[in-house]
Amino acid sequence: MKDMLVRLQDLPSVLSLEKSLEKKEKIIFRKAIAPEKHLVCEWVHQEFGDYWKSEVEVAFTRQPITCWIAQRGNTLVGFACYETTAKNFFGPTGTLESERGKGIGKILLIKALESLKEMGYGYAIIGGVGPAEFYEKVVGAKEIEGSEISIYQNLLRKS
Ligand SMILES: CC(C)(COP(=O)(O)OP(=O)(O)OC[C@H]1O[C@@H](n2cnc3c(N)ncnc32)[C@H](O)[C@@H]1OP(=O)(O)O)[C@@H](O)C(=O)NCCC(=O)NCCS
Repeated sequence: MKDMLVRLQDLPSVLSLEKSLEKKEKIIFRKAIAPEKHLVCEWVHQEFGDYWKSEVEVAFTRQPITCWIAQRGNTLVGFACYETTAKNFFGPTGTLESERGKGIGKILLIKALESLKEMGYGYAIIGGVGPAEFYEKVVGAKEIEGSEISIYQNLLRKS
């Protein structure tokens, strides 16, 4: 797994995509708030496992909370965190499997990167990337040479 670097100066606008998802799919995007911590963390645990739950729990220790969510009514369909495992890092993120390919991941990514930009960063790091093509395509992210040796090195695993 490598890290990727993203310039925060030319992020694409997702306003019209967001409006269309709200209209057609009834999906809204917003920052998570404290009272729903248990629900967001349980959902991330169920859909994406222990490690991402741990990272989302850290997002809920921040104020404002560093986690964007996508919801349809009372159902979560996606999430994206930033500054959980390291400062200036994006992630983790995930879209419910049945909802992928609609633009949810893209909107969540841009919203979280905009949040990092508002904090004063000029670049952001996508930590321990899985789908590099997704990040290349949506925000022009570039692999950081040598980053396979990263902060995730020596991560404890369940034995
Ligand atoms: C990666 C992930 C968040 C993308 O979410 P999504 O809601 O399906 O993404 P979107 O629909 O917004 O896709 C935006 C664009 O990226 C493309 N894309 C999405 N996933 C991709 C992938 N894995 N590889 C290459 N391109 C991808 C889409 O085709 C779309 O292109 P388009 O704008 O030309 O139509 C989702 O696949 C996921 O939850 N994966 C499992 C968890 C994971 O790997 N998270 C990332 C950890 S680093």
